[in-house]
Formats: sequence, structure tokens, C-alpha cells
Amino acid sequence: MNPAFLPNVRYVFRNPFYITRRALYKAISIFSKQFSGGQLLDIGCGTKPYQPLFTVQNYVGMDYEKGGTNNNPDADFFYDGKIFPFKNKSFEFALATEVLEHVFEPDSFLSEIHRVLKEDGLLLLTVPFSWDEHEQPYDYGRYTSFGLKYLLEKNGFQVLEQIKTGDFVLTVFQLFATYCYYNLSKNWFIYKLSLIFFFGPFQLLGILLSFLLPKNMNLYLDNVVLAQKK
Ligand SMILES: C[S@@+](CC[C@H](N)C(=O)[O-])C[C@H]1O[C@@H](n2cnc3c(N)ncnc32)[C@H](O)[C@@H]1O
Repeated sequence: MNPAFLPNVRYVFRNPFYITRRALYKAISIFSKQFSGGQLLDIGCGTKPYQPLFTVQNYVGMDYEKGGTNNNPDADFFYDGKIFPFKNKSFEFALATEVLEHVFEPDSFLSEIHRVLKEDGLLLLTVPFSWDEHEQPYDYGRYTSFGLKYLLEKNGFQVLEQIKTGDFVLTVFQLFATYCYYNLSKNWFIYKLSLIFFFGPFQLLGILLSFLLPKNMNLYLDNVVLAQKK
């Protein structure tokens, strides 16, 4: 698995986005236990970074043919951003990690997921709440926890569980590290040094302070939602 997605603490010295990746990985690994057997569709699959967490019969990756990762070699299928190339009720499970923010028409996207899921099928969705505009210009939205629940229910899903990853302190530290990444990564040598002497210790300090300081979840990194087709 790509180390950029792994939660082991040693990767804090290799990954300027360790705080957000660690929290996402942990949340996805908890929910993935409910995805066992059957067919899973990973929508906007990218490099399928979380595939090892799912013990399903068939793991199918689909990506957007005009998305930020054109000609994705890891995708098994591509779609045009409108209709998924699958029959109704083809999958027991759907996964979309860090994708909804790139979708300009979230209602039709969610109704396509609803269509290809079998009755009572499960959807695991992760969506950033605090993150910079990425894969520009294909970045269209940020959702609050309430907005996401509304969208899912409106499109025929029941929200079973919903969590926020990161907290106020972790988010502030992660966003500042991201800001520094843009500046420090311009020079390879400085970047490599800063991973060890800045990004690692800085993110560890954030994790420590988040543990010591009062918890506040009004600012956070990602929404992670487990929903079921109604
Ligand atoms: C931030 S990447 C996330 C990739 C992967 N899911 C992950 O968690 O690492 C966003 C992905 O969404 C895809 N994407 C962009 N627009 C999309 C759309 N309208 N429908 C589905 N996927 C889309 C991109 O091609 C890209 O693979």
C-alpha cells in the first residue's frame, strides 16, 4: 500500500499530510469490516488506496474519464460523469473516498450510486470538510455533516453512521503543514530535510496538543458516512 495513506507513526516523517491520512485510514478501516463478501464498486478510485482493507469477492475500480487522473491505469472502468456503466442493482457495496467534492452534480451522482446498489446495499463516503482546492479546476464543493446527511437522504439513503475525522487542533496543524508543503516542496533537498525536521515534529506536536487540549469538533478534516440504500 502507498505509504502516503498509511497510519503507522513512522510515516509522519515521510508525509506532510500524515494527520489527515491517518485519521481517514482509521475511520475507513473501522467501517470496512461491514463490507465483507459480495461486489464492491470503488467510485473515483484513483490508485485504490484502501482496497487492502476490504475483504470482498470482487473489487471494481471506476474513475471519471475527464477527472483529475485521466487514463488512470488502476481503474477497471471509466464513466462520462453521468451514467455508471453498470446495470441496476449490480453491487452490494459502494465506496467513494474524497470524490464527492469533485462532482458538480451531487444529486445525479448519488442517484447513480443508488441505482447500481442492490437492496440494502451499503455506501461508504468520505468527503473533505477542510482542505485546499485540489485537482483544480475539478474541485466543486465542501459539505458540512448536516449538508451531507440531507443530500444522502434526499437521494434514497439512510445514514447509519456518520463521523468527523480530526478535530479543531488537528485541522489547524494539518492546514498549516499543507501551506508549508506548498512552499518547502519547491526544492527537493529542502523538502527532504523539512520532512524530518519540520513536518514530522510539527504534526506530532499537533497530535499531542489535540490529546491534551479540550476537544472541539466544529472544525474538522473529513466527513465519513456509512449509508444504506433505502
Ligand atoms: C482526490 S482523488 C481521490 C482518489 C481515491 N478515491 C482516493 O481516496 O485516494 C479524486 C478522484 O475523483 C475522481 N473524479 C473526479 N471527478 C469525478 C466525478 N465526476 N465522478 C467520479 N469520480 C470523479 C478523480 O478522477 C480522482 O480519481
